[in-house]
Amino acid sequence: MSPPSRFAVALISALASLQVTTAATVTYNFTIGWVTANPDGAFERPTIGINGQWPIPRIEANTGDNVIIYATNQLGNQSTSLHFHGLFMNGTTHMDGPAQVSQCGIPPGSSFTYNFTINQPGTYWYHSHTGGQYPDGLRGPLIVHDPDSPFLDQYDEELILTVSDWYHEQMAVMLPAFNSKGNPTGAEPVPQAALFNETQNLTVAVEPGKTYLFRMINIGAFAGQYIWFEGHNMTIVEVDGVYHHPAVAEMIYIAASQRCSFLITTKNETTANYAFVASMDTTLFDTLPADLNYNVTGWLTYNDKESFPEPALVDELDPFDDMTLVPYDNQTIFGEPDKIIELDVIMDNLNDGANYAFFNNITYKAPKVPTLYTALSAGELATDASVYGTYTHAFVLEKGEVVQIIVNNLDTGRHPFHLHGHHFQALYRSEEEAGTFEDANVTSADYPAIPMRRDTLVLYPDGNIVLRFRADNPGIWLFHCHIEWHNHLDVCASQNIATTGNAAGNTVDYTNLKGENKPPGRLPDG
Ligand SMILES: *[C@@H]1O[C@H](CO)[C@@H](O)[C@H](O)[C@H]1NC(C)=O
Ligand SMILES: *[C@@H]1O[C@H](CO)[C@@H](O)[C@H](O)[C@H]1NC(C)=O
Ligand SMILES: *[C@@H]1O[C@H](CO)[C@@H](O)[C@H](O)[C@H]1NC(C)=O
Ligand SMILES: *[C@@H]1O[C@H](CO)[C@@H](O)[C@H](O)[C@H]1NC(C)=O
Ligand SMILES: *[C@@H]1O[C@H](CO)[C@@H](O)[C@H](O)[C@H]1NC(C)=O
Ligand SMILES: *[C@@H]1O[C@H](CO)[C@@H](O)[C@H](O)[C@H]1NC(C)=O
Ligand SMILES: *[C@@H]1O[C@H](CO)[C@@H](O)[C@H](O)[C@H]1NC(C)=O
Ligand SMILES: *[C@@H]1O[C@H](CO)[C@@H](O)[C@H](O)[C@H]1NC(C)=O
Ligand SMILES: *[C@@H]1O[C@H](CO)[C@@H](O)[C@H](O)[C@H]1NC(C)=O
Ligand SMILES: *[C@@H]1O[C@H](CO)[C@@H](O)[C@H](O)[C@H]1NC(C)=O
Ligand SMILES: *[C@@H]1O[C@H](CO)[C@@H](O)[C@H](O)[C@H]1NC(C)=O
Ligand SMILES: *[C@@H]1O[C@H](CO)[C@@H](O)[C@H](O)[C@H]1NC(C)=O
Repeated sequence: MSPPSRFAVALISALASLQVTTAATVTYNFTIGWVTANPDGAFERPTIGINGQWPIPRIEANTGDNVIIYATNQLGNQSTSLHFHGLFMNGTTHMDGPAQVSQCGIPPGSSFTYNFTINQPGTYWYHSHTGGQYPDGLRGPLIVHDPDSPFLDQYDEELILTVSDWYHEQMAVMLPAFNSKGNPTGAEPVPQAALFNETQNLTVAVEPGKTYLFRMINIGAFAGQYIWFEGHNMTIVEVDGVYHHPAVAEMIYIAASQRCSFLITTKNETTANYAFVASMDTTLFDTLPADLNYNVTGWLTYNDKESFPEPALVDELDPFDDMTLVPYDNQTIFGEPDKIIELDVIMDNLNDGANYAFFNNITYKAPKVPTLYTALSAGELATDASVYGTYTHAFVLEKGEVVQIIVNNLDTGRHPFHLHGHHFQALYRSEEEAGTFEDANVTSADYPAIPMRRDTLVLYPDGNIVLRFRADNPGIWLFHCHIEWHNHLDVCASQNIATTGNAAGNTVDYTNLKGENKPPGRLPDG
């Protein structure tokens, strides 16, 4: 059990009853346990698998289906929970997965049934949302097929392709070292390898003269990745579950947790095979070990008797700008916001010497009571943000209102910000070092009439972003950076977690936060 993120805010909107649709039921039995894996061929290590397998199985459903997952934790020494990244969980906020936000972690030996209906098409993924666990392997694709996809007649076959980063150490070893006074600058551990589909040197058999829909998902912990296919362009048609008008790209960048679906039309000849490459964004790395191959190669295999050429070196990493995408449904910009939330991102040390991430001077500390249970037990005070605690940075939203989130990055790192439960319109993203939103003198004339929509957006160093969404999904939703290192470990052994009370566990006086969980104190001035 541990907080999902200390770099987070909880968004709370009034709970209401919701409709249920009837459709097929898709059932999975997942026994989560340790297996051994060696995906980069360099080091064998304990890895978290499902039903004795790793990579873990993909979840597949059609729009409208009810999904039931019987999850049993056989890890023996860690709690777990599953988050279905990008799914709205409309009416089932209690199935969203983050431990201490919408559920307690599933302790070793216990089971939990996830039960939800999916009413959105597209490319998603699922992963552990307990502690910093998912980089140990508990991460896999979740695909929602759409019989009404506007692109259905434009491709012959679809292929799922994940990209990720890989560490030889376990998170339980790396996290305490990362989050300690021995690492005062908060330097994130540099991965040992990049992977395609959790392996290397992947060959993807293709036939000539066909069009494939690639569903690409960055299921990594940290590294954003540049991706290109030699000799082939990508025609982007979906990002993060939202169809967009086709846009041709020679190279894309996908941050940790983002998805991008694109069409690739194969050549008519089968005389050669073509490399495709993912190159980790090394600007995120504090150090670049000399022996690190931060690239991974795969091949579009037209003919397995032909050679598999090494990729050519690319001089400039100049990816497609996702801000230029236009949603396929042409949804226009939401009107003036009813509520504006401005968040300043900084990284700083507290008096334990470790480095923490802050929103508006608040570093996340999980409450004693999962936020959802506070909302459900607080009665009228559920709409009083203070009952959720000083260190969750909760915002209470009115159902249906248009909310604008401005994020100012006062840090020199890139951060992919992810909103649970909604797609947002991405109105604006400044260049690097543009300063805050105020500094940039942005006006509504700078916003596109039909903004791109997705659930995770990259914010550049010392820059700012502006997002807008409609709060039409009652529940408790996190907004946080999706670099797993910016989600801290706080191995909470106790399963004596209360399910009523405010953030401090006070069930009598919800306005009294005495005894709430706190991060370390401030450093003395100077
Ligand atoms: C899941 O497990 C239950 C109980 O062990 C069993 O009844 C059911 O058939 C299994 N379902 C699937 C899809 O494997
Ligand atoms: C992939 O190929 C490269 C180059 O031959 C090699 O160094 C690497 O070990 C291979 N990876 C795996 C997992 O076999
Ligand atoms: C948990 O169990 C795994 C698999 O046996 C082991 O490799 C790992 O070190 C254990 N972790 C902790 C924190 O004890
Ligand atoms: C899933 O939830 C629905 C709606 O609440 C309920 O009718 C159904 O029994 C649940 N199924 C399981 C397996 O829990
Ligand atoms: C990648 O792995 C997924 C399973 O996670 C599999 O369904 C898919 O076919 C693989 N993709 C390729 C291109 O081999
Ligand atoms: C890819 O697109 C670029 C720019 O639109 C174009 O110049 C190039 O010829 C295309 N390459 C292929 C292989 O179609
Ligand atoms: C492949 O052949 C088809 C049919 O002759 C043609 O329309 C298409 O342009 C060719 N594709 C390429 C990539 O040359
Ligand atoms: C990775 O690929 C990039 C782009 O082609 C190249 O500049 C770099 O040298 C490669 N790095 C390694 C370690 O091979
Ligand atoms: C979106 O706009 C384009 C260009 O104006 C138009 O061709 C298309 O029909 C519109 N699509 C929808 C779903 O309204
Ligand atoms: C942040 O907190 C520190 C320490 O309490 C305080 O000195 C500083 O003024 C605060 N900054 C803002 C922007 O509130
Ligand atoms: C914003 O406006 C102020 C005052 O007009 C001006 O000094 C500043 O240079 C502008 N900043 C940018 C980034 O245009
Ligand atoms: C959630 O469901 C409500 C009621 O059906 C609907 O109005 C709303 O648009 C949905 N929100 C999302 C994000 O799916």
